[in-house]
Amino acid sequence: MLIINNRKDLQKWRLEQDNKTVGFVPTMGYLHEGHMSLVKSAKKSTELVVVSIFVNPLQFGANEDLNNYPKNLENDITICKSHGVDVIFTPNTNEIYSNGYPPKTKVNVELLGNHLCGAKRNGHFDGVCTVVTKLFNLVKPHKAFFGQKDIQQLRIIETMVKELNMPIDIIPCPTQRTHDGLALSSRNSYLSVAEERSALIVPKVLNHLVSLIKKGETDTNTLITDGISLISKTPNAKADYLEIVDYNTLQPVHTINGKIIIATAVFIGNTRLIDNIIWSD
Ligand code: PAF
Repeated sequence: MLIINNRKDLQKWRLEQDNKTVGFVPTMGYLHEGHMSLVKSAKKSTELVVVSIFVNPLQFGANEDLNNYPKNLENDITICKSHGVDVIFTPNTNEIYSNGYPPKTKVNVELLGNHLCGAKRNGHFDGVCTVVTKLFNLVKPHKAFFGQKDIQQLRIIETMVKELNMPIDIIPCPTQRTHDGLALSSRNSYLSVAEERSALIVPKVLNHLVSLIKKGETDTNTLITDGISLISKTPNAKADYLEIVDYNTLQPVHTINGKIIIATAVFIGNTRLIDNIIWSD
């Protein structure tokens, strides 16, 4: 496995692989089984797999956890090696934003970014799309793998690739969970033992809303009010948002109809966790 930390070496490596299919898994490190499920999918459908590890400052707001974001490069290297990754690309900020930071050019996300996390994290998806575009231009993958846990990110990147004519297949991969249902996330490492128990409200509330829909509830206001009330009764938990949106447009729907996403962000203590369920009737 190669570990590359600069653009020049990565581009040189990529030129040498001209006849091979390349799968790409972009990450911010502190890797876990969720990331490795993306690597496993990549290994099944492409000949070479590149994992990038880069905590992108452009997608963090002023009061967010950029400076505390968990890191363990040594462990990330071990995990990648054991899963047969071919290249880890681990650049620093100067390498990615080589023309100065903040960059003078950004990818601007319009409508798909005005609800859910986009409404709460100003500029977040512009930051994500800008760095993902830069990484795509360097890695030049045939396929890139994204987890459905970050469903808004996935839908925005699928749309960006289509609208900007990027010749890359975006492959969605299912959310990986602990045995009691909590979605795997590097940010789970911030939780205390008591908070870990409280965090189970996140998958519970989503499953509860699905069970109400299955029983015939179609009014999204009723569903959201019920869900917010459940979250507010849980110790350490505070809903940042709970929304029900159309799968394609990511705009709120008033009635359950067609393919929708029930998505939530919940503060457990100071840790903000996100999760979602895709539902189709
Ligand atoms: O999902 C993430 O870890 C990040 O948003 C990504 C796609 C690596 C871009 O920084």
